[in-house]
Amino acid sequence: NILPVILAGGQGTRLWPMSRADMPKQFLPWMGGTSLFQRTLLRVSNAARYRRPIVVTHADYAALVKESAAQIGLPLEAILLEPVARNTTAAIVAAAEYASTRFGPNIALHVVPSDHDVEVNQAYWQANDAALEAARQGGLVTFGIQPTTPETGYGYIKAPAQVGTSASRIELFVEKPTAERASSMLAEGGHFWNSGMFMFEAGTFLAEADALSPDVTSSVRRAIAKSTAISGGLVFDEDEFAQAPNISIDYAIFEKTSKGVVVAAAHGWADLGSWDGVWKTNAHDASENFIQGEVTLDEVTGSIVVTDHAHIAVHGLTDIAVVATRDAIVVTPRSMAQKVSHIVQLLRDNT
Ligand code: GDD
Ligand code: MG
Repeated sequence: NILPVILAGGQGTRLWPMSRADMPKQFLPWMGGTSLFQRTLLRVSNAARYRRPIVVTHADYAALVKESAAQIGLPLEAILLEPVARNTTAAIVAAAEYASTRFGPNIALHVVPSDHDVEVNQAYWQANDAALEAARQGGLVTFGIQPTTPETGYGYIKAPAQVGTSASRIELFVEKPTAERASSMLAEGGHFWNSGMFMFEAGTFLAEADALSPDVTSSVRRAIAKSTAISGGLVFDEDEFAQAPNISIDYAIFEKTSKGVVVAAAHGWADLGSWDGVWKTNAHDASENFIQGEVTLDEVTGSIVVTDHAHIAVHGLTDIAVVATRDAIVVTPRSMAQKVSHIVQLLRDNT
């Protein structure tokens, strides 16, 4: 069976100020009270197909992860805790190393982020089957989504795959392109967005990571060797884990590997990574606005206005995002919502 690896260590800074360092977006109980993290657990809970999942996250979120899983009655295979965040390559290498030691290098891993809205239907399972088959043949598989806009927050994949067919080799992988490059790839056609969900055998991934990112694999192996056991999992050694370069799997592996394979996924998929993503995913009113909380709008279109505290009134603006909590408010053009993380960085630097 497939071993799910859930990545839940991101801070979700682009969804500030709702998403905070001590309560990042994946654990927020929005959308019907079930968090994105819990919905991710539920997606990989079919015991006929999956083993119990491994969750890799920051040590600060250990309690949130355990409570969230217990709340929906889903046991975990293990919780692996990072004392410092070192991005997704280190997190995935750690999970692959752990899984390979436990179940052997041929264990198939399904790596899933915990910040997505994913529709589970027939197309979803078809893509999953095709991905497993390609992984069994030694591929590093990602699920490709049909792009609709020149988003700059995604990875772009050039491949001859067609929706509904099985896997194709990745010709080119470009992580987070400039706006110009994203537009030209969209216009050219034949590209997918990288969904950020992956499938591969632990051994295939580790061998490629050893070749392309040896500094990550060596630091992570040392961090595991010196890790501390806790109930249900382990905490990596801080000094060793901190040595791992801070780089995402997209830059470290997928932009460089020749083993990349893409499976075209036709199911509904949305990244709720930014306020623009939240606007796109939710139903709009007649003026193309999405509002939540005490909001009054006049001559406002194409906007998202969300508040959990003060009454927000907006007048005469188009395509903006306004998000307010008790102690912080962000206002940005929707097109620049990907950059809210820059503001958070400024705030951190200045306080
Ligand atoms: N354990 C752990 N440790 N998890 C992490 C860490 C970390 O240091 N950093 C991020 N994550 C988790 C996040 O919580 C999220 O679930 C997932 O890894 C992806 O991280 P993001 O920060 O959300 O990545 P992204 O959205 O900018 O880009 C990725 O996803 C896009 C699609 O949503 C890339 O894979 C893009 O290529 C892709 O298009
Ligand atoms: Mg994301």
